[in-house]
Amino acid sequence: MAMSIDVDAGPVRRARSVPMRRALRRLMDDPAGGLWEFAQEAGGEVVRLELGPFRPYLVTHPDHVQQVMRLEWTNYQRTGMFWRPLERLFGKSIMGDGEQWRISRTILQPLFTTRYISTLAEEVAARVAGRVEEWDGYARSGRPMDATAEMSGILTYIVNRVLFGDKLSREDAERIVPAFDLVSHSLVARFLMPFMPYFVRIPGDRACLRGVKQIDDVVFPIVRKAMADPDDGLDVISVLCRSTDEEGRPLTATQIRDALVSVYAASSETTAMILTWLWLLLEEHPDVAARLQAEIDEVVGDGPARADHVPQLSYTRMVLLESLRLYPSGWLLPRHVMEDGVVGGVRIRRGSTVLISAYATQRLEEFWERPHEFDPERFRNGNTAGGERRHRYSYFPFGGGPHKCLGEHLFYVEAPLVVASILSRFRLSVRTPGPYTPGWAASLRPKGRIELGVSFASRDRSAVAR
Ligand code: HEM
Repeated sequence: MAMSIDVDAGPVRRARSVPMRRALRRLMDDPAGGLWEFAQEAGGEVVRLELGPFRPYLVTHPDHVQQVMRLEWTNYQRTGMFWRPLERLFGKSIMGDGEQWRISRTILQPLFTTRYISTLAEEVAARVAGRVEEWDGYARSGRPMDATAEMSGILTYIVNRVLFGDKLSREDAERIVPAFDLVSHSLVARFLMPFMPYFVRIPGDRACLRGVKQIDDVVFPIVRKAMADPDDGLDVISVLCRSTDEEGRPLTATQIRDALVSVYAASSETTAMILTWLWLLLEEHPDVAARLQAEIDEVVGDGPARADHVPQLSYTRMVLLESLRLYPSGWLLPRHVMEDGVVGGVRIRRGSTVLISAYATQRLEEFWERPHEFDPERFRNGNTAGGERRHRYSYFPFGGGPHKCLGEHLFYVEAPLVVASILSRFRLSVRTPGPYTPGWAASLRPKGRIELGVSFASRDRSAVAR
């Protein structure tokens, strides 16, 4: 096994390390799979990845994840080399740490409670249905669709209501999706070389700045208009316009822009990616696909799916939870070490980076039987922690501790509605041959373009459409 063990440094050990050549080769080729492999080899113990000047610790044991994300979270912050590239997109906001994070979280939290989200569910359902109908064109023409683009399109359409109170025109929405895509791809080089100073231009920098400008060109005018003429709406932008910071000062246009862009990115890309992986998993598991279809036929019939269907779609929810175990969109959560610490008996040096990976932890053999198998039955009891005896931090697709995802409830409403609306109207088939491996991106996305074939579920519909 190509893993060396450093000399013991007293009662607190030094981390085992993965040598540079191997770490680099595996991570370039298959970043998520590489992290899992290193974690599994170490039996969940802390390991150090030798990546030249950058030597992060990989923390995957659920006890250790809990320590970093919850118990000692103030010592493991979202700043430093890994987060700096993201500041180009998010500014200083809820996707960071410190004062701006606290202000944004306090303002936004009430907008994402289960209760409040349930008041939006009917509208979300209507939007999903309207948007899904537009796919009739694909079904009629036989033209394949680009999975990630279409999933992002639906999500943006929903988010435009929840976040922007429909202040984003369709044209704006169509500009914003490719701009986010551009930024997400072009940031990859900075993630791979987090130690590279900013005065050194690296590939992707120019494209990233172009993408951020395109986003700003759409978002700033909306923010300024809303600030000049505030309404009493409960969408995120209206609430931000009426909010103040801890000293009672109104938020600036930049603070509002940063909060909106952060929540937009956190909400649409993550959900769009898991919905993309879902079709790939269903294609490879026809038995699960058949059970899912049977549930949707029974509950939703010819559709469209309504909000009151959601609680009855229990198998759909199990399928989504298991998809999130295998392909958690937030697959890599880096933290900057503020002071020396000890995790799992290993000394963690101040100023270094700790990498948490739900992808790796959620496939550890010590905590999951048949870890790579897609088996929604694991979630039969509706337990999002995945069964009574399982460690809370063996499954954390929505993170944990004070930074836990704000959008989890929204996800549990919107994702089943999207899946049920699609499958009550269409049958999808994957046209791109496998195997499907995750590439390098901020959210876990399949390498390359995934094409889906679309056909009508019922003959009547295809006849009407003709
Ligand atoms: C598949 C869907 C989603 C997944 C897998 C996901 C995952 C995550 C994860 C892992 C974190 C923690 C980040 C960290 O600890 O560094 C997070 C944070 C966050 N998520 Fe989600 N998310 C999803 C959907 C959403 C949605 C729909 C929203 C809605 C608006 C949202 C808003 C947020 C926000 C605002 C944060 C930052 C919270 C904070 O740091 O205080 N997410 N998400």
